[in-house]
Amino acid sequence: MTIEEKLAATASALVTTGKGILAIDETSPTCTKRFAEFGIESTADSRRSYRETLITAPGIGDYVSGVIMFDETIRQTAKDGRSFVDVLNTLGVMPGIKVDTGLAALAKAPGENVTDGLDGLRERLYEYCEIGARFTKWRAVIKIGPGTPSRYCIETNAHALGRYAALAQEAGLTPIVEPEVLMDGDHDVGRCLEVTEEVLQSVFRELNSQRCLLEGIVLKANMVTSGIGSPRRANTGEIAELTLKTLRRCVPAIVPGVAFLSGGQTGKEACRNLNAMNSLGRLPWELTFSFGRALQYPSLGVWGGEPHNVPAAQAAFLHRLRMGGAARAGMYSSELERG
Ligand code: G3H
Repeated sequence: MTIEEKLAATASALVTTGKGILAIDETSPTCTKRFAEFGIESTADSRRSYRETLITAPGIGDYVSGVIMFDETIRQTAKDGRSFVDVLNTLGVMPGIKVDTGLAALAKAPGENVTDGLDGLRERLYEYCEIGARFTKWRAVIKIGPGTPSRYCIETNAHALGRYAALAQEAGLTPIVEPEVLMDGDHDVGRCLEVTEEVLQSVFRELNSQRCLLEGIVLKANMVTSGIGSPRRANTGEIAELTLKTLRRCVPAIVPGVAFLSGGQTGKEACRNLNAMNSLGRLPWELTFSFGRALQYPSLGVWGGEPHNVPAAQAAFLHRLRMGGAARAGMYSSELERG
């Protein structure tokens, strides 16, 4: 198999029918914040136990094609001594790794950020290959505000995404390319459409000019929604229609799939919206989920850091996975949600 065939095969397998990608790649500080919401102490071992609870939930292989981990997590082991990478491989689930190092203030653009992590990336990618990663993720963050995002911010982030994706492909790792337009703000859905479109156009320009193999990537995108503080929130039908319009305008058909982030939507909202898109007929790409919070809440609360809650937390997590799987097939409904 050539490296191009391998990249494309991994990308297609990540968005394979019926499955989505689990994001448990929160940095330790973010994980600590999430734990704090439920009064859970955050230590390397409590984070390990939590991630083990999720990845060993019986049956996750039926719904999950790949798991995106953080540097700490991909090096951790389950209670039985097997590395998380081995646990996932045994289940037929691909191990993946977030390789960006987070946000930095963008010079000369007050209030805007650029994602860091290109320094030393080539070497880190080779190490992750040795650990057993099959794919990678890099998240750029674009915030809508008065007068922002600037074109400078969009283009700088898109350029970094292109550099990351090319390096990942050089190492034989399929890149998940994630330009997230945040839901924070009081903008309406039309503004989100405009910005998402400009961002995706810029990202694909960079991927093309930096020689990335488009059949060997997965796009991780935001849905086109109104801002959280918008006086009029777009409904499911509008979100589905506008998100698909944006994707059709910007995403080449050769990209095998788009995996949505949840971005602060509840599990139910995210599933309803994904389901609506998958109910609208034939699309050029697979549309699936790569949710973090929308899959992990409420299982995090049910777990609460207590070993005796593991089975109940796994059941809550599996329910969310089943709902994601249904939404991915256009079969989600409120009846199903109620069980
Ligand atoms: O990069 C973002 C995460 O991988 C997805 O998280 O679904 O909670 O937005 P989210």
